[in-house]
Amino acid sequence: MQANIVTIPGDGIGVDVVAEGVKVLQAVAAKFGHTFTFENHLIGGCAIDATGEPLPASTLDACKRADAVLLGAVGGPKWDDPTARVRPEQGLLALRKGLALYANLRPVQVFAELRDASPLRPERLEGVDLVVVRELTGGLYFGPRKEATSDNMTAYDTMLYADYEVERIARKAFELARLRRKKVTSVDKANVLSSSRLWRRVVTAVAADYPDVALEHMLVDSAAMHLMRRPADFDVIVTENMFGDILTDEASMLSGSMGMLASASLGEGTNGVYEPIHGSAPDIAGKGIANPLATILSVAMLLRYSFGLGKEADAVEKAVADVIAAGYRTRDIYTEGMKLVNTQEMGDVVCQAL
Ligand code: IPM
Ligand code: MG
Repeated sequence: MQANIVTIPGDGIGVDVVAEGVKVLQAVAAKFGHTFTFENHLIGGCAIDATGEPLPASTLDACKRADAVLLGAVGGPKWDDPTARVRPEQGLLALRKGLALYANLRPVQVFAELRDASPLRPERLEGVDLVVVRELTGGLYFGPRKEATSDNMTAYDTMLYADYEVERIARKAFELARLRRKKVTSVDKANVLSSSRLWRRVVTAVAADYPDVALEHMLVDSAAMHLMRRPADFDVIVTENMFGDILTDEASMLSGSMGMLASASLGEGTNGVYEPIHGSAPDIAGKGIANPLATILSVAMLLRYSFGLGKEADAVEKAVADVIAAGYRTRDIYTEGMKLVNTQEMGDVVCQAL
């Protein structure tokens, strides 16, 4: 197939890891006879420096026209001034909203060889295979808000949901569960929050259309605990925007490193944004030591969800599994006796395995 991919590496290690994702896409194109063209654009801090905007209109337009978007990460100490009016993170949120990507899929797998890299006891990790379906264009990130000012030191954010927003994300979760172990855990805070009580009611109603899928409701504090206590019991977790943000950082520790978790942000069409769940890690940016596997696994999701190239996606995931089995490790997942590689070398061995 022929496809146009927009790359927006952003800041920090986003640049390092997206380069390796592109390398893998080129290897896939060569091996399977596809033509992928790449267009690079700005987002986040580097976009603020160049244009004054965290998401320049030219970037959003290119992403709208693209067949798929590969993103790195945004942010860094240079743009961290809490009083700044423009922030890199606004670019990422505007992109998600601008493309109406309301469903963020974050799979958490544990490679058996990486069990030692996790802070959890290895036996807890047996059989862990879950996906967090995070609502991405609503909730606490997008409700009415007020910034504190020097003469009015109150501030607020609002967790606002309309029923249709809950319904469409619930449907994504149930559809996905049907292809997996047929269990949905809906995570909320219905004992305290009105928006969570609406969430619970709508998810329960949607479940009636999926009698073959089991539904359980869980409070978010309890879910945070059970994720560590019995992670293998989860299949599909569906939750509010910020709950999903927090729980996926926690869940990344099951796979050993933030550098292992991929994500796909999807809406109604086939276009999507694919990105590692980790941030821009300014402390290690440009040192060539970042783990590109989360981005490479995001490339697999891109091939599968935006291009319908299941065979190619499987091949990329298999190549990642092979290099891990062969003992290649970036610093974040290194354990004694393994082969320590840098960012580019990791990309290279994945391409060779492919
Ligand atoms: C993520 C990140 C972003 C989020 C930040 C960078 C705005 O933490 O994708 O998980 O909170 O969604
Ligand atoms: Mg996050």
